[in-house]
Amino acid sequence: MKLFLDTANFDEIREVASWGVLDGVTTNPSLCSKETVSFEDNIRRICALTPGPVSAECVSLKADEIVPEARALAGLAPNVAVKIPVGLEGLKATKTLAGEGVAVNMTLVFSAGQALLAAKAGARFVSPFIGRLDDISEDGMALVEEIVEIFGNYRIETEVIVASVRHPRHVIEAARLGADIATVPFAVMGKLVRHPLTDIGIERFLADWRKVKT
Ligand code: E4P
Repeated sequence: MKLFLDTANFDEIREVASWGVLDGVTTNPSLCSKETVSFEDNIRRICALTPGPVSAECVSLKADEIVPEARALAGLAPNVAVKIPVGLEGLKATKTLAGEGVAVNMTLVFSAGQALLAAKAGARFVSPFIGRLDDISEDGMALVEEIVEIFGNYRIETEVIVASVRHPRHVIEAARLGADIATVPFAVMGKLVRHPLTDIGIERFLADWRKVKT
């Protein structure tokens, strides 16, 4: 499974890239609003650092406005994937953009029907938001299971990005279900590597080793 970082913060991306585990990045308007550098410059420098796709989101709502906005975003770097919220206007825009070879990440997906239509319109990625479903007492991971099953049934090539990840178990469950990608906040990425027994184990080994040396 590929791991994307869900952030627009350059320092976080540089740090995770240095761990050798970064496959891509997703941003959204809320994440970008926290950064001081201009949106376009930030996307360009994130793309230069990131080996895989970097999602940059369109804010237009009508297909005839989404399409030129998406083309401009795609022109920022070869590895930009344009994020478009799912909906009728988004589907129309995705159809046009996919025909031009633009990678579309259809976002704010909360049902399998939305994911299926996004794939049929030509989206390269779909992003079910599991944490936000869990937040309202629905089962986000059940949605991932449905989408993975449907895409598997028909060998649909659209990749499933498990988004709105809140904790390491979300990442593990996504991997068990065969999702293509999890996009993970920086704090959760750090939690994936830590385990108290690892820390205790290192302390004990070092304490024993000090005895050998004296
Ligand atoms: C995904 O691409 C989104 O940027 C993100 O996962 C949204 O997560 P949130 O629900 O924590 O805002």
